[in-house]
Amino acid sequence: MGLPLLDTDVLPRGLARIQAEVDEAFDSFLPVPDDPRARLVQAMRHAVIGGGKRVRPLLLVTVAEMHNVDRAAAVRAACAIEAIHAYSLVHDDLPCMDDDAMRHGKPSTHVAFGEAVAVLAGDSLHALAFEILADPATSGDPFVRVDLVRCLATASGHDGMAGGQMMDIAAEEAEFDLHTVIRLQELKTGALLGAAVEMGAILGHVPEEGRGLLRAYARDIGLAFQIADDLLDHEGDEALAGKALRKDADAGKATFVSLMGAEAARTQARALSEQAIGHLAQHGPEADLLRALARYVVERDR
Ligand code: IPE
Ligand code: IPE
Ligand code: MG
Ligand code: MG
Ligand code: MG
Repeated sequence: MGLPLLDTDVLPRGLARIQAEVDEAFDSFLPVPDDPRARLVQAMRHAVIGGGKRVRPLLLVTVAEMHNVDRAAAVRAACAIEAIHAYSLVHDDLPCMDDDAMRHGKPSTHVAFGEAVAVLAGDSLHALAFEILADPATSGDPFVRVDLVRCLATASGHDGMAGGQMMDIAAEEAEFDLHTVIRLQELKTGALLGAAVEMGAILGHVPEEGRGLLRAYARDIGLAFQIADDLLDHEGDEALAGKALRKDADAGKATFVSLMGAEAARTQARALSEQAIGHLAQHGPEADLLRALARYVVERDR
């Protein structure tokens, strides 16, 4: 018995569609004003338009559509999570953090616009995320809007992405064991990926007791995604990745690759991907994009 056959085009089509939708939405959210704030908005556009795989938006919109949510509303929520993700990368690349000059195959925001503008662009993308979620165009139900805001806020701050970034900084000094690295990644990368799935479920009014398997799927692909990021850093192609690689070992950081070795890390990532797909057993073809995404996150080259 082999693995179930998947439509091989489902993922490239899904990614291309969401990439175009997210770019178009940010273009309309961010008109460049004819005043001294123009540089700030240009920097925001640089960070958030025309780059990035849009994995979080695709997760959110796919889960939402599985539960009959209007696509345009789901794309708005997807832009909110992508605005947080893009801001986290702008700040992650700053000289005081990873000091990276390239992102998405182009100069990092601080290289193109200067550090002060990059800090403000990150701040403003952070605020934009919650402005989008609080708008009735995202959901006519105020309880849904508050739940979306709560979910994304928790996943972004000290109990989520920013907390994970703190642990990542600490990983340069401390000798973290595998459990601590897993905790680090659950916050740094897993929290926003998990929020993408959760926000799709919130929009779809999926009751609390119906979310367990979706959460288990998100947890597994979150871990697999970060193992793949560490593998890419270890052995990927910079031109394809569009960012500087070989940074983790130079920084002396404990990662999945440094602790397990590349081969065991790859085996683990693939096992997590198959386990994630297993959590979708009760769903039919409407979850094929989630299945394809689970495979893609571990085999990706960027
Ligand atoms: C990179 O995330 C940073 C991590 C959280 C590991 P992605 O690989 O999703 O970045 P883009 O947006 O597609 O470039
Ligand atoms: C960044 O992690 C994760 C964020 C929350 C921004 P990395 O520093 O490993 O991401 P890359 O490798 O620069 O994309
Ligand atoms: Mg970093
Ligand atoms: Mg980095
Ligand atoms: Mg990395």
